[in-house]
Amino acid sequence: MKKTLVIYFSLSGTTKAAAESIQENTNADIVRIEPVEPYPEGYSNYSKVGMQQMEAHADVPMKTKIPDLNQYDLIFIGYPTWGGQVPRIFNSLFAENDFSGKRVLPFSTSVSTPFEDTLPSFKEAAGGGVKIVGGFRYRDEAQVQRLLKDNKSSSSFLGLE
Ligand SMILES: Cc1cc2nc3c(=O)[nH]c(=O)nc-3n(C[C@H](O)[C@H](O)[C@H](O)COP(=O)(O)O)c2cc1C
Repeated sequence: MKKTLVIYFSLSGTTKAAAESIQENTNADIVRIEPVEPYPEGYSNYSKVGMQQMEAHADVPMKTKIPDLNQYDLIFIGYPTWGGQVPRIFNSLFAENDFSGKRVLPFSTSVSTPFEDTLPSFKEAAGGGVKIVGGFRYRDEAQVQRLLKDNKSSSSFLGLE
């Protein structure tokens, strides 16, 4: 049986906690992606760099090697919302790895921006061949448990919050 994978990026730990909660509830493998060039320490410093990358549509190469995706059929992808969008490092993730034939389920974290606002940028990063099967803004573990229960027998997570 093919497995589930959680791939996430997190600077201050919120998306990390969300990803770990999803991992525990799905028995998934988990990978944290990191850039070749680390972000500076301190919120105001890394926010500035992050926003500059968003505005410049910068190329943000990844240091992390992704495992062979053939083992997986459902892949959760978690990200903090940056300037209403998915951080630029995800463009590298999709450019360097073949997600075709996988079910990809994005989830965001943010202070206030809803998941739906980030979806166009996620789709653009993913490109045309990727099958996105829903998505949500992570709130808490109970939400994830409900989501998985409601969709146990379904091959699609569409229509989720
Ligand atoms: C560069 C940058 C841009 C951000 N832009 C937004 C935004 O547009 N909307 C929002 O609600 N939160 C925004 N935030 C807040 C983060 O999305 C939020 O704190 C997130 O949960 C952090 O995840 P992390 O702890 O995994 O890094 C931004 C944070 C940073 C650093």
